[in-house]
Amino acid sequence: MVNIKSLSLLFISSSTLHSSLAFHASFQSSQQVGTSLSTTLLYATNSDKDQSKNNDRLASRKSKMGRRSILSIASSSAITLSSPNPSLAMNNKSRTEGYAVQHTEREWAYILSGKQYNILREGGTERPNSSILESEERDGEYRCAGCNTPLFASSQKFHSGTGWPSFATGLAGVEVENVNPVQANLLGAEIRCATCGGHLGDVFNDGYLFVNTPAFSSGKRFCVDGSALIFKPSDGSEEVFGDTAPPAKKQEMPDFLAPPKINARDR
Ligand SMILES: *[C@@H]1O[C@H](CO)[C@@H](O)[C@H](O)[C@H]1NC(C)=O
Ligand SMILES: *[C@@H]1O[C@H](CO)[C@@H](O)[C@H](O)[C@H]1NC(C)=O
Ligand SMILES: [Zn+2]
Repeated sequence: MVNIKSLSLLFISSSTLHSSLAFHASFQSSQQVGTSLSTTLLYATNSDKDQSKNNDRLASRKSKMGRRSILSIASSSAITLSSPNPSLAMNNKSRTEGYAVQHTEREWAYILSGKQYNILREGGTERPNSSILESEERDGEYRCAGCNTPLFASSQKFHSGTGWPSFATGLAGVEVENVNPVQANLLGAEIRCATCGGHLGDVFNDGYLFVNTPAFSSGKRFCVDGSALIFKPSDGSEEVFGDTAPPAKKQEMPDFLAPPKINARDR
């Protein structure tokens, strides 16, 4: 079920430029990369649905990593197709201690919307394609929904096809979990707002897969929960809250469902 091309990711060290280039050469176009990625993601999403939905915080972080990390999906499917790797390391660092902006959990719950609180304070994960910011393309700055710190620049945003807003680099306001290189490659590292400690998402070392995007040169993919962000357009227009759902898509009706066209001459 998992595309064999995805499994080959296992053997690629993202820090080795040569193997990355060889990997690219094995694809004829970036479109094919996209196809193989979405195949992998589809697989992950489906297997997630089978699992119990009442996950506690740690379990939800595990499943997040399973869903988001293309590399970890590939590796766990190579070992066993049914059960996710149970030994994923977790970031146990307090989300409160040492951060400049401090609020009690009660205060946070009052300040933030339910979705914002779940992401920023509980380390939750939003459903893919559930944030209006995934499709945002204007110039501007993405700020922390908890403390207004600038976190990402629009120039670094790219479409990863994962359904989460993705960036090639973070601004200085982004804190990256300090993990060993093996974990960084396979599972990614947690990203937080360095000012308030709010959880933002994860960063992965697979940016080189996204040809013709800024991630190709940074080698990174900052996979962000849109709900943790507020977008401030540089033209001064209204801020966009990332916990807003995207506008409903206009469904184009397939031909066989469309009402028959009435030809005047048949009447
Ligand atoms: C984090 O906490 C869990 C459960 O308390 C523990 O099993 C794990 O070893 C800890 N991880 C680190 C990196 O400290
Ligand atoms: C998210 O939206 C993109 C573009 O419309 C689509 O290709 C992708 O399959 C969607 N992902 C999920 C998990 O719904
Ligand atoms: Zn913050």
